[in-house]
Parts: sequence; C-alpha cells; structure tokens
Amino acid sequence: MKKIVILISGRGSNLRAILQAQRLKAWQADIVQVITNRPQAVGIEVANEFGIPVTILDHQSFISRQEFDAELLKKTQAFNPDLVILAGFMRILSADFVNFFNGRLMNVHPSLLPSFPGLKTHSAAIAMGVKWHGATVHFVTHAMDVGPIIAQGVVPVLPEDTEETLSQRVLEIEHIIYPQALEWFIRDQLHLDQGNVRVVPAQQQFFQLPITP
Ligand code: GAR
Repeated sequence: MKKIVILISGRGSNLRAILQAQRLKAWQADIVQVITNRPQAVGIEVANEFGIPVTILDHQSFISRQEFDAELLKKTQAFNPDLVILAGFMRILSADFVNFFNGRLMNVHPSLLPSFPGLKTHSAAIAMGVKWHGATVHFVTHAMDVGPIIAQGVVPVLPEDTEETLSQRVLEIEHIIYPQALEWFIRDQLHLDQGNVRVVPAQQQFFQLPITP
C-alpha cells in the first residue's frame, strides 16, 4: 500500500478529482494526510468530506521562510510518504524538500510546459494568441515548473475566451491527467529514461478535451 501526502493551498478541485478517482478505482494507496499552508483553504472541506486528516501549517505564523520550510519538511517526513502530490500548493519548496522527495514529488501546472511557467498562465496564453493551451503533470526538480513530464493535456483556446473560461477548461483536463499520473505511479508504471518519463507498459501520455465548435 503506497502512502501519499497531498499539499494544497486553495480550492482543492484537483484534490477532489484525486480522492474521487481513488474511491472509484480502489487504488492500492492510502492518502494519509492533506497539508495546507492556508487555514482558509476551501480544500480543507474537501479533505474533511473524504475523511482525510488535515495539517494546517500557516506560513504567516512563522518568523522566516526557512522556519516554515523546515517545519513543512519535518511534518511531511513524519508521514513517511511514498509520494508527495502538489495540488495547487502555491509555495516554492526548499531545496532540502525537493532533494528529500526526489522522484517522489509530483506537481500539476496549468500550461503546456515548457510554455508559460509561473503564474497567470491563462491570461498569458490568451495574450500570446496560442490556439492550444493545457496542463502538465511533472516530477518536481529544483527549477520551478521544470522537471520530467509525466502527462500533458491540451484544450483549445477559443476566440471568445477569458481567463476565467479558459482556466475552467484547463481544470477539466487537469482532473483527468493528475489522477491518471498518480495511478501510474501507484502501479509502479513510471520509468525515467534519460530524463524522460515513460509509462510501462506503454500508454498514451497525452490527453485531449473534445473540441467545442
Ligand atoms: C490548478 O489550476 C493548478 O494547476 C494550479 O493551481 C490550481 C489549483 O486548483 N497550480 C499551479 O499553478 C502550480 N504552479 P485547485 O486547488 O482547484 O486544485
């Protein structure tokens, strides 16, 4: 049984998608804890709904970033997880954290990396006039929003899109690719091959939402 800890900062829609998938598919995995840096995170209610215990580590109550980082590492290590999932966790992790969980730390980012790293990806995509946008699940390495790509999902960018409509569409594909990536990990199907992630036995690692005319 693999032990999983999920880190969140906000709404928790990816958390919900993962917990629903776990329920539906009876994964050989135990989601042992949700940790959040925001006491007001809506995702706490999602965790409660599914009976997952929550640790609140309010980053604002620490005197320094280093203290928060050290406590986050300590608290996460205490659960001895096989995998740590970042599901809208909006703090940059310390080098110690990334080193400790190397190969066992996953993130979802709302763009087709390496395009549009960082924040405000949807408005950036609209401003650039790209016709495809999407989301990426990747292993976390030291540089932000870089790291071996596990799965990507594309969505069309429509002429009338706003940041809001586009982000909703991207979320839909996030909710497909993140549980899928997690399932591959749980089944030991993810293999690193010269920095590239392969699924063994091979499966499609790209996903698409139906195009609405
Ligand atoms: C998601 O869109 C996720 O891709 C993004 O935060 C949102 C969290 O939503 N993550 C990042 O931007 C990380 N760089 P959720 O709380 O509803 O899952």
